[in-house]
Amino acid sequence: MISDNLSNAIKLLNEGNLIAIPTETVYGLAANAFDPVAVSKIFEVKNRPKFDPLIVHSYSIEKIKEFVISFPEKSLLLAETFWPGPLTLILKKKNIIPDIVTSGLDSVAVRIPNHPLTLKLLSMLDFPLAAPSANPFGYVSPTEPKHVQAQLGDKIPFILNGGKCKVGIESTIVGFEGEKAIIYRLGGLSVEDIKEVIGKVKINLHSSSNPLAPGQLDKHYSPNKTIVLDLEVIKSFEKSDVGAIVFSDLIENIPIENQLVLSKNRDYSEAARNLFSILRETENLAVKIIYAELLPEEGLGRPINDRLRRASVKSKLSHDK
Ligand code: TXA
Ligand code: MG
Repeated sequence: MISDNLSNAIKLLNEGNLIAIPTETVYGLAANAFDPVAVSKIFEVKNRPKFDPLIVHSYSIEKIKEFVISFPEKSLLLAETFWPGPLTLILKKKNIIPDIVTSGLDSVAVRIPNHPLTLKLLSMLDFPLAAPSANPFGYVSPTEPKHVQAQLGDKIPFILNGGKCKVGIESTIVGFEGEKAIIYRLGGLSVEDIKEVIGKVKINLHSSSNPLAPGQLDKHYSPNKTIVLDLEVIKSFEKSDVGAIVFSDLIENIPIENQLVLSKNRDYSEAARNLFSILRETENLAVKIIYAELLPEEGLGRPINDRLRRASVKSKLSHDK
């Protein structure tokens, strides 16, 4: 069921069920973060490996202090500046957070999402919500209720309808090594915005073989269509077999009906908001291959390019020697 009825949502969560919730970034698949049995259902429904830890969502810094050990100075500065918003902080956890949420790590990912309905929901619950993006593992994240319905609708009882996501790409993940801030995933809060508040940050998107942030697995955000980033590759195809994702300007020699535009006005925020719907739309184009144009590497151009690169990995494997 897709509805904006909060009491329904609360009842289902209190009984240990999963529901989909809106946030400003993408829709989440939520369960009581203090209940390991409820949380285990998230991994089943998403087909998500247990080594990939979840983000815990709450509505206030005070509440978050009930389940993290401390907020290092820079993390508090970021939290106070950007929450509610598209920022996730990695902090040392208290025991009340079950191991299944953090894949056994002693840290927990936390975030206050900026969506009025979900903030209201969180404030009416006695527990925070563990929630990954509400898509099958490895697929494009959902930014509208109908995206969740199409892929997980038969596996969950309820989708809380909060309309289209206003940011459209996942949160930026920031962790700390001592005083050093490290960005583990590029997302809806730009590197530039973070630097303005805390100064230097390191970007570490490929942390280890046991990925700290598997949002960073190379192949991710994959629609069922071959996507390439190299214009040369499409030259060997018939014109009518080629589609494109472009920032604003159409590409000559590719049929206009096969081109998807991220933002006519070259607006990064609009491009981010449209990105995942457009990746999904590629599946409806009657073409064999899609060329995706990268944006300038600045602001939200960076996380958008990151998603396009990962969406294209499958095709790289089949087209590279
Ligand atoms: O915008 C978002 O962040 C959305 C909405 C629903 O809040 N959520 C989301 O969750 O994108 P998910 O599960 O798709 O991505 C969470 C990322 C994963 O890459 C995971 O590895 C990382 O957060 N993560 C979670 N806990 C962590 C931890 N303790 N240390 C390092 N990375 C962690
Ligand atoms: Mg995800």
